[in-house]
Amino acid sequence: MTHVKIAVFPVAGLGTRFLPATKSVPKEMLPLVDRPLIEYAVEEAREAGIEEFLFITSAGKTALEDHFDASPELERRLSNAGKADQLAAIRRSALPAGSHSFIRQDSPRGLGHAVGLARRIVGNRPFAVLLPDDVIRAPQGCLAQMVDAHARTGGHLVAAMEVATADVSSYGILDVASETGRVAHARGLVEKPSPEDAPSRLAVVGRYILDPVVFDRVATQRLGAGGEIQLTDAITADAGNLPVSGFRFEGQRYDCGSVAGFLKANIAFALDRPGLQPELSDALDMIGSLRMRHAA
Ligand code: G1P
Repeated sequence: MTHVKIAVFPVAGLGTRFLPATKSVPKEMLPLVDRPLIEYAVEEAREAGIEEFLFITSAGKTALEDHFDASPELERRLSNAGKADQLAAIRRSALPAGSHSFIRQDSPRGLGHAVGLARRIVGNRPFAVLLPDDVIRAPQGCLAQMVDAHARTGGHLVAAMEVATADVSSYGILDVASETGRVAHARGLVEKPSPEDAPSRLAVVGRYILDPVVFDRVATQRLGAGGEIQLTDAITADAGNLPVSGFRFEGQRYDCGSVAGFLKANIAFALDRPGLQPELSDALDMIGSLRMRHAA
């Protein structure tokens, strides 16, 4: 049994990088192979033992609410038509009644602000935050790995991976004091530093297990990078009182907030499907050789 039971999914972003696809469809509903992006984070949370799901949404995201609802009429039709696989797929994507809720973020004031809105529902419990844009392909889900590690570290624990120096300004970066196995003990974190100011190349990936004291921090904190209330700053503010650690997870992270990352994830996850793998591999080989011929 896990000690972390509730997860927060900040999904209020506009998805402007995917316009016009996201003009009327939330970016979290774009299909990664044949499942909406959001399902990957929700499934990872379920695998980690999460039982309550809280989505921080914004205007135009009602498709997400509908997606996690039961759909008795569709289920009946699939069942009557003997479509057992499709029936299992839609049942798998519904969340149990009473297990999930939605809170609106009225204005885009940053990730720290979005997470702060979870306070009333989360209360005084450790909780997980999953940013669905970060999709992690791993033998054991990243959050499940982190829940195990958090049982030892306590405090705030963030998923972490090494990035190139040129990329540090796209991430929260850990100021690492020492390391034990996969755990990096941090003095704090810096949100989107310039390469010259970055304390390391160890970057925060969108998975967090947080102590509820973080709610006090986001409630009182000043605006940070980009003029927003940054979760990174709230975590850092506790570094003197609580363990703040990075967890070097096992797995491959795809940045599905960018079009290129999203396409790479689609290819990687499709190649995992036995029903798609042979045809897709052949197509990729053919596209590669045609490109080589054109380049020659
Ligand atoms: C957010 C966080 C950042 C983290 C990143 C991971 O940034 O603020 O610390 O490294 O997610 O994906 P965003 O990508 O939303 O600008």
